[in-house]
Amino acid sequence: MSRFQLDDLLDLATRVKGKRPGQVLGGKTLGMLFFQPSLRTRVSFEVGMQQLGGHCINLSSDDLYDLEPNEQAVMDGPAEEHVKDAARTLSRYVDALGIRAAARTSTWERDRQELLLRSYAEHSSVPVINLETVFEHPCQALADVLTMRENLITMQGRKLTLMWCNHPEPKSLGPTHSVLQLASLMGMDVTLAHPLGFEVDDEVLQRSRAAAEEAGGAGRVVNDMQAGGKGAEVIYARSWGCTKYWDDPERESIVKRSFQDWRVDRELMALTDDAMLMHPLPVRRNVAATDEVLDGDRSRIYDQAANRAHVQKALLMQLLK
Ligand code: CP
Repeated sequence: MSRFQLDDLLDLATRVKGKRPGQVLGGKTLGMLFFQPSLRTRVSFEVGMQQLGGHCINLSSDDLYDLEPNEQAVMDGPAEEHVKDAARTLSRYVDALGIRAAARTSTWERDRQELLLRSYAEHSSVPVINLETVFEHPCQALADVLTMRENLITMQGRKLTLMWCNHPEPKSLGPTHSVLQLASLMGMDVTLAHPLGFEVDDEVLQRSRAAAEEAGGAGRVVNDMQAGGKGAEVIYARSWGCTKYWDDPERESIVKRSFQDWRVDRELMALTDDAMLMHPLPVRRNVAATDEVLDGDRSRIYDQAANRAHVQKALLMQLLK
Protein backbone atom coordinates (compact mmCIF):
# COMPACT_ATOMS: atom_id res chain seq x y z
CA MET A 1 0.00 0.00 0.00
CA SER A 2 1.35 3.45 -0.89
CA ARG A 3 1.03 6.43 1.42
CA PHE A 4 -1.46 7.94 -1.03
CA GLN A 5 -3.62 4.78 -0.98
CA LEU A 6 -3.47 4.64 2.81
CA ASP A 7 -4.52 8.28 3.23
CA ASP A 8 -7.29 7.79 0.66
CA LEU A 9 -8.66 4.75 2.52
CA LEU A 10 -8.47 6.46 5.93
CA ASP A 11 -10.22 9.55 4.53
CA LEU A 12 -13.02 7.36 3.17
CA ALA A 13 -13.25 5.57 6.54
CA THR A 14 -13.62 8.93 8.28
CA ARG A 15 -16.42 9.94 5.89
CA VAL A 16 -18.13 6.54 6.32
CA LYS A 17 -17.90 6.94 10.09
CA GLY A 18 -19.48 10.39 10.01
CA LYS A 19 -22.33 9.53 7.68
CA ARG A 20 -23.55 6.08 6.72
CA PRO A 21 -23.19 5.62 2.96
CA GLY A 22 -26.40 3.58 2.52
CA GLN A 23 -26.93 0.33 0.66
CA VAL A 24 -24.05 0.78 -1.77
CA LEU A 25 -23.12 -2.93 -1.73
CA GLY A 26 -26.65 -4.26 -2.22
CA GLY A 27 -26.58 -7.82 -3.57
CA LYS A 28 -22.88 -8.32 -2.80
CA THR A 29 -21.62 -11.24 -0.70
CA LEU A 30 -18.45 -11.54 1.35
CA GLY A 31 -17.37 -15.10 2.13
CA MET A 32 -15.25 -15.43 5.26
CA LEU A 33 -13.19 -18.48 6.17
CA PHE A 34 -12.03 -18.70 9.78
CA PHE A 35 -9.34 -21.21 10.66
CA GLN A 36 -9.03 -19.52 14.10
CA PRO A 37 -11.55 -18.04 16.57
CA SER A 38 -12.57 -14.40 16.19
CA LEU A 39 -14.88 -11.94 17.91
CA ARG A 40 -14.02 -8.49 16.50
CA THR A 41 -13.02 -9.40 12.96
CA ARG A 42 -16.02 -11.56 12.27
CA VAL A 43 -18.61 -9.27 13.86
CA SER A 44 -17.19 -6.03 12.46
CA PHE A 45 -17.15 -7.41 8.91
CA GLU A 46 -20.64 -8.88 9.26
CA VAL A 47 -22.13 -5.68 10.68
CA GLY A 48 -20.25 -3.57 8.13
CA MET A 49 -21.44 -5.64 5.16
CA GLN A 50 -25.02 -5.55 6.48
CA GLN A 51 -24.91 -1.75 6.90
CA LEU A 52 -23.75 -1.44 3.28
CA GLY A 53 -26.64 -3.60 2.03
CA GLY A 54 -24.60 -6.76 1.41
CA HIS A 55 -24.23 -9.89 3.45
CA CYS A 56 -21.64 -12.39 4.69
CA ILE A 57 -21.28 -16.15 4.66
CA ASN A 58 -19.01 -17.56 7.36
CA LEU A 59 -17.27 -20.90 7.29
CA SER A 60 -14.97 -22.32 9.94
CA SER A 61 -12.43 -25.11 9.63
CA ASP A 62 -15.14 -27.54 10.82
CA ASP A 63 -17.14 -26.72 7.65
CA LEU A 64 -14.23 -27.14 5.25
CA TYR A 65 -12.29 -30.05 3.90
CA ASP A 66 -8.62 -30.24 4.83
CA LEU A 67 -6.95 -28.10 2.19
CA GLU A 68 -3.71 -28.62 0.26
CA PRO A 69 -1.93 -25.30 -0.55
CA ASN A 70 1.16 -26.66 -2.37
CA GLU A 71 1.30 -26.68 -6.15
CA GLN A 72 1.63 -30.06 -7.88
CA ALA A 73 1.11 -31.88 -4.58
CA VAL A 74 0.36 -35.58 -4.80
CA MET A 75 -2.71 -35.50 -2.60
CA ASP A 76 -2.46 -38.87 -0.92
CA GLY A 77 -2.38 -37.36 2.62
CA PRO A 78 -5.19 -35.98 4.80
CA ALA A 79 -6.02 -33.00 2.52
CA GLU A 80 -9.23 -33.75 0.61
CA GLU A 81 -9.32 -30.62 -1.57
CA HIS A 82 -6.74 -28.33 -3.16
CA VAL A 83 -6.96 -24.62 -2.31
CA LYS A 84 -7.04 -23.96 -6.06
CA ASP A 85 -10.36 -25.81 -6.42
CA ALA A 86 -11.88 -24.27 -3.28
CA ALA A 87 -10.81 -20.77 -4.37
CA ARG A 88 -12.05 -21.13 -7.94
CA THR A 89 -15.36 -22.56 -6.73
CA LEU A 90 -15.93 -19.91 -4.07
CA SER A 91 -15.10 -17.19 -6.62
CA ARG A 92 -18.18 -18.30 -8.58
CA TYR A 93 -20.40 -17.69 -5.53
CA VAL A 94 -19.07 -14.66 -3.65
CA ASP A 95 -17.80 -11.17 -4.54
CA ALA A 96 -14.87 -11.15 -2.09
CA LEU A 97 -13.22 -13.62 0.24
CA GLY A 98 -11.79 -13.00 3.70
CA ILE A 99 -9.42 -15.50 5.27
CA ARG A 100 -8.17 -15.87 8.83
CA ALA A 101 -5.39 -18.41 8.65
CA ALA A 102 -4.46 -20.96 11.27
CA ALA A 103 -1.95 -20.06 13.99
CA ARG A 104 1.38 -21.88 14.14
CA THR A 105 1.44 -24.82 11.80
CA SER A 106 5.12 -25.34 11.02
CA THR A 107 8.49 -23.54 11.25
CA TRP A 108 8.68 -19.73 11.18
CA GLU A 109 10.33 -19.87 7.75
CA ARG A 110 7.33 -21.72 6.38
CA ASP A 111 4.55 -19.96 8.34
CA ARG A 112 5.86 -16.48 7.42
CA GLN A 113 5.12 -17.31 3.78
CA GLU A 114 1.34 -17.24 4.45
CA LEU A 115 0.91 -20.15 2.04
CA LEU A 116 -2.83 -20.68 2.49
CA LEU A 117 -3.72 -17.00 2.10
CA ARG A 118 -1.41 -16.53 -0.87
CA SER A 119 -2.69 -19.65 -2.54
CA TYR A 120 -6.26 -18.35 -2.20
CA ALA A 121 -5.16 -14.97 -3.56
CA GLU A 122 -3.50 -16.60 -6.53
CA HIS A 123 -6.41 -18.81 -7.49
CA SER A 124 -9.41 -16.63 -6.62
CA SER A 125 -10.88 -14.38 -9.25
CA VAL A 126 -12.39 -12.12 -6.55
CA PRO A 127 -10.50 -9.91 -4.04
CA VAL A 128 -9.05 -11.77 -1.05
CA ILE A 129 -8.80 -9.94 2.29
CA ASN A 130 -6.30 -11.00 4.95
CA LEU A 131 -8.27 -11.39 8.20
CA GLU A 132 -5.04 -12.25 10.06
CA THR A 133 -2.15 -14.56 9.54
CA VAL A 134 0.77 -15.11 11.91
CA PHE A 135 2.69 -12.62 9.73
CA GLU A 136 0.22 -9.76 9.19
CA HIS A 137 -3.09 -8.39 10.41
CA PRO A 138 -3.65 -5.47 8.04
CA CYS A 139 -7.32 -4.74 8.86
CA GLN A 140 -6.41 -4.37 12.55
CA ALA A 141 -3.54 -2.04 11.67
CA LEU A 142 -5.77 0.08 9.43
CA ALA A 143 -8.18 0.57 12.34
CA ASP A 144 -5.24 1.35 14.60
CA VAL A 145 -3.71 4.05 12.40
CA LEU A 146 -7.19 5.55 11.99
CA THR A 147 -7.48 5.65 15.80
CA MET A 148 -4.05 7.23 16.14
CA ARG A 149 -4.83 9.81 13.43
CA GLU A 150 -8.09 10.76 15.19
CA ASN A 151 -6.19 11.38 18.43
CA LEU A 152 -2.87 12.81 17.22
CA ILE A 153 -4.15 14.68 14.11
CA THR A 154 -0.62 14.87 12.64
CA MET A 155 1.34 11.64 12.39
CA GLN A 156 4.83 12.56 11.18
CA GLY A 157 7.42 12.26 13.94
CA ARG A 158 4.89 11.25 16.59
CA LYS A 159 6.27 8.74 19.06
CA LEU A 160 4.72 5.27 18.96
CA THR A 161 6.09 2.38 21.02
CA LEU A 162 5.14 -1.16 20.09
CA MET A 163 5.54 -2.74 23.51
CA TRP A 164 5.98 -6.50 23.86
CA CYS A 165 4.11 -7.78 26.87
CA ASN A 166 3.75 -11.08 28.62
CA HIS A 167 1.16 -13.71 27.65
CA PRO A 168 0.83 -17.33 28.75
CA GLU A 169 0.35 -18.55 25.15
CA PRO A 170 2.63 -18.20 22.12
CA LYS A 171 1.19 -15.36 20.02
CA SER A 172 1.44 -14.36 16.37
CA LEU A 173 3.40 -11.41 15.01
CA GLY A 174 0.54 -10.26 12.75
CA PRO A 175 -0.71 -7.09 14.51
CA THR A 176 2.82 -5.97 15.44
CA HIS A 177 4.16 -6.37 11.90
CA SER A 178 1.19 -4.61 10.33
CA VAL A 179 1.09 -1.67 12.74
CA LEU A 180 4.87 -1.29 12.43
CA GLN A 181 4.60 -1.06 8.66
CA LEU A 182 1.63 1.32 8.45
CA ALA A 183 2.87 3.63 11.22
CA SER A 184 6.26 3.78 9.48
CA LEU A 185 4.57 4.57 6.18
CA MET A 186 2.91 7.53 7.94
CA GLY A 187 6.29 8.83 9.10
CA MET A 188 5.87 8.07 12.77
CA ASP A 189 8.83 7.68 15.10
CA VAL A 190 8.40 3.99 15.95
CA THR A 191 10.13 2.21 18.82
CA LEU A 192 9.97 -1.56 19.14
CA ALA A 193 10.43 -2.53 22.80
CA HIS A 194 10.90 -6.22 23.49
CA PRO A 195 13.06 -8.63 25.49
CA LEU A 196 16.06 -10.18 23.73
CA GLY A 197 14.93 -13.18 21.71
CA PHE A 198 11.62 -11.63 20.61
CA GLU A 199 12.91 -9.84 17.54
CA VAL A 200 10.39 -9.21 14.78
CA ASP A 201 10.92 -10.48 11.25
CA ASP A 202 14.05 -8.82 9.86
CA GLU A 203 12.58 -8.20 6.40
CA VAL A 204 9.59 -6.40 7.95
CA LEU A 205 11.90 -4.38 10.20
CA GLN A 206 14.15 -3.24 7.35
CA ARG A 207 11.21 -2.42 5.09
CA SER A 208 9.58 -0.41 7.87
CA ARG A 209 12.75 1.53 8.67
CA ALA A 210 13.17 2.48 5.02
CA ALA A 211 9.51 3.58 4.79
CA ALA A 212 9.77 5.62 8.02
CA GLU A 213 12.92 7.40 6.87
CA GLU A 214 11.39 8.21 3.51
CA ALA A 215 8.32 9.67 5.24
CA GLY A 216 10.35 11.76 7.71
CA GLY A 217 10.03 9.35 10.64
CA ALA A 218 12.41 6.94 12.33
CA GLY A 219 12.64 3.43 13.75
CA ARG A 220 14.60 1.99 16.67
CA VAL A 221 14.65 -1.15 18.83
CA VAL A 222 15.19 -1.24 22.60
CA ASN A 223 15.35 -4.27 24.90
CA ASP A 224 14.21 -2.42 27.98
CA MET A 225 10.61 -1.73 28.89
CA GLN A 226 11.24 1.59 30.65
CA ALA A 227 13.36 2.88 27.75
CA GLY A 228 10.48 1.99 25.44
CA GLY A 229 7.98 3.86 27.58
CA LYS A 230 9.99 7.03 28.05
CA GLY A 231 8.53 9.94 26.08
CA ALA A 232 6.09 7.80 24.06
CA GLU A 233 2.87 9.41 22.83
CA VAL A 234 1.29 6.06 22.05
CA ILE A 235 1.90 2.76 23.84
CA TYR A 236 0.70 -0.14 21.71
CA ALA A 237 0.82 -3.21 23.94
CA ARG A 238 0.80 -6.69 22.42
CA SER A 239 2.60 -9.94 23.01
CA TRP A 240 4.24 -11.71 20.10
CA GLY A 241 6.01 -14.98 19.60
CA CYS A 242 9.64 -16.02 19.49
CA THR A 243 10.48 -16.92 15.89
CA LYS A 244 13.57 -18.89 17.00
CA TYR A 245 11.41 -21.33 18.98
CA TRP A 246 8.36 -21.04 16.73
CA ASP A 247 7.91 -24.80 16.46
CA ASP A 248 8.80 -25.40 20.13
CA PRO A 249 6.15 -23.58 22.26
CA GLU A 250 7.35 -25.26 25.47
CA ARG A 251 10.83 -23.78 25.01
CA GLU A 252 9.28 -20.37 24.29
CA SER A 253 7.23 -20.67 27.45
CA ILE A 254 10.40 -21.33 29.49
CA VAL A 255 12.14 -18.31 27.94
CA LYS A 256 9.13 -16.13 28.75
CA ARG A 257 9.26 -16.96 32.47
CA SER A 258 12.04 -14.38 32.87
CA PHE A 259 9.92 -11.67 31.29
CA GLN A 260 6.77 -11.74 33.43
CA ASP A 261 7.38 -8.15 34.50
CA TRP A 262 6.79 -6.98 30.92
CA ARG A 263 3.30 -5.71 31.79
CA VAL A 264 1.95 -2.24 31.06
CA ASP A 265 0.96 -0.56 34.31
CA ARG A 266 0.62 2.87 35.87
CA GLU A 267 4.37 3.16 36.52
CA LEU A 268 5.18 2.47 32.89
CA MET A 269 2.52 4.91 31.65
CA ALA A 270 3.94 7.60 33.99
CA LEU A 271 7.20 7.54 31.98
CA THR A 272 5.38 8.44 28.77
CA ASP A 273 4.35 11.78 27.34
CA ASP A 274 0.76 11.26 28.57
CA ALA A 275 0.52 8.43 26.03
CA MET A 276 -2.70 6.84 24.93
CA LEU A 277 -2.82 3.09 25.43
CA MET A 278 -3.72 0.77 22.59
CA HIS A 279 -4.15 -3.00 22.37
CA PRO A 280 -5.84 -4.91 19.53
CA LEU A 281 -7.71 -7.27 21.92
CA PRO A 282 -8.34 -9.88 23.15
CA VAL A 283 -6.16 -8.90 26.10
CA ARG A 284 -5.02 -10.95 29.12
CA ARG A 285 -5.89 -8.50 31.89
CA ASN A 286 -3.29 -8.04 34.62
CA VAL A 287 -0.82 -10.12 32.61
CA ALA A 288 -0.26 -7.97 29.50
CA ALA A 289 -1.62 -4.77 31.07
CA THR A 290 -3.32 -3.90 34.35
CA ASP A 291 -7.03 -3.24 34.74
CA GLU A 292 -6.15 0.25 35.90
CA VAL A 293 -4.53 1.30 32.60
CA LEU A 294 -6.86 -0.70 30.34
CA ASP A 295 -9.87 0.97 31.97
CA GLY A 296 -8.14 4.34 32.40
CA ASP A 297 -8.97 7.55 30.56
CA ARG A 298 -5.93 7.20 28.21
CA SER A 299 -7.09 3.80 27.00
CA ARG A 300 -8.33 3.66 23.39
CA ILE A 301 -8.87 -0.11 23.15
CA TYR A 302 -12.59 0.06 22.35
CA ASP A 303 -12.11 2.90 19.84
CA GLN A 304 -9.70 0.63 17.98
CA ALA A 305 -12.28 -2.17 17.96
CA ALA A 306 -15.01 0.23 16.80
CA ASN A 307 -12.82 1.56 14.01
CA ARG A 308 -12.46 -1.96 12.61
CA ALA A 309 -16.01 -1.69 11.26
CA HIS A 310 -15.52 1.81 9.77
CA VAL A 311 -12.22 1.16 8.04
CA GLN A 312 -13.37 -2.23 6.73
CA LYS A 313 -16.51 -0.68 5.27
CA ALA A 314 -14.26 1.77 3.43
CA LEU A 315 -12.10 -1.12 2.22
CA LEU A 316 -15.13 -3.11 1.02
CA MET A 317 -16.46 -0.05 -0.82
CA GLN A 318 -13.12 0.44 -2.57
CA LEU A 319 -12.94 -3.24 -3.52
CA LEU A 320 -16.55 -3.93 -4.48
CA LYS A 321 -18.46 -0.78 -5.37
N1 CP B 1 -8.23 -8.00 17.14
C1 CP B 1 -8.84 -9.04 16.53
O1 CP B 1 -8.57 -9.38 15.39
O2 CP B 1 -9.82 -9.62 17.30
P1 CP B 1 -10.51 -11.02 17.00
O3 CP B 1 -9.45 -12.06 17.11
O4 CP B 1 -11.58 -11.14 18.04
O5 CP B 1 -11.09 -10.97 15.62
